[in-house]
Amino acid sequence: MVKIAILGYGTVGSGVYEILKKNPPSIAKKAGDSIEIKYILDIREFDGHPEKHLFTKNFDDILNDDEVSIVVEVMGGLEPAYSFSKSALLKGKSVVTSNKELVATHGTELIRLAKEHDANYFFEASVGGGIPIIRPLNQCLTANEIDEVHGILNGTTNFILTKMFEEGATFESSLREAQSLGYAERNPEADVEGHDACRKTAILASLATGKFVDYHDIPTEGITKISTADVFFAGKIGYVIKLIGSAEVGPDGKVQAIVAPRLVSKDSQLADVNGVFNAILVHGDSLGDVMFYGRGAGKLPTASAVVADVIDAAKHIHINKWVIWSEAEGDIMQNPGECV
Ligand code: HSE
Repeated sequence: MVKIAILGYGTVGSGVYEILKKNPPSIAKKAGDSIEIKYILDIREFDGHPEKHLFTKNFDDILNDDEVSIVVEVMGGLEPAYSFSKSALLKGKSVVTSNKELVATHGTELIRLAKEHDANYFFEASVGGGIPIIRPLNQCLTANEIDEVHGILNGTTNFILTKMFEEGATFESSLREAQSLGYAERNPEADVEGHDACRKTAILASLATGKFVDYHDIPTEGITKISTADVFFAGKIGYVIKLIGSAEVGPDGKVQAIVAPRLVSKDSQLADVNGVFNAILVHGDSLGDVMFYGRGAGKLPTASAVVADVIDAAKHIHINKWVIWSEAEGDIMQNPGECV
């Protein structure tokens, strides 16, 4: 049995709990072992929770418990998330996170610490919510030289801009709705000022180029200056306004990156990416263009990426028990004729 601790029981943390409780046998089969939540760390009280006994306010309970091999950090923010992640890795516990601010700031160090301590630092949920993008960049696309990554990387701002465009809604009312749906950061300034998209752009640029790109070096503008009138008149001339994060590798090998609201032609693929959806376009020298599209924020989509990382981290612990598929024959619709 693989025992885990969840740090932070907010939108994503409660989603992780929900998914792990939904179908334990299926998750156990994929992970090669069953996964048990042993602790949930949160400073708030959850008196009505069916597993109230799991809650602790003391991180040392988790750190000093050798049975806990995976720590899920979904607290957000730099501290105490950084200190907790670092201490867990130093003890050889794997850390799984959705915390883009932490990955963009201290990811290099935390990945190194994981390697040094025979653990993993996984962060699939840090970019694009439920969209697989970190692993594709890190695994499936590695034969390519990636020279361009760009797209819609923040669900909250895309939701706001879509509401303004489709319904003529105001910025403020659309933001309130995004908050109530659990899309926005605790401090939504990070969304609307473009900081969240900037951190995600830095993570993607670092992965694409294999070199750390510091998000402080990326010029960033959010959507707070965009009015309903801007969106309306852009529509009149055949455009929509989208907050786009872009990183390109120039001929000199240097990365050019920027986050800003842009006019996107209604004929473009990105113009059809609406609401909480994100889309990330990657260009590789052998593959050409590839696009990743899906729900970029929200409880269960983001938690699904976190749980996938937990399953992967568990597989690494029980590497000899990997299950890809069983010997039993699958249930497939029989078509006449032969596969040739
Ligand atoms: N606030 C973020 C967003 C959450 O709206 O995209 C997912 O990273």
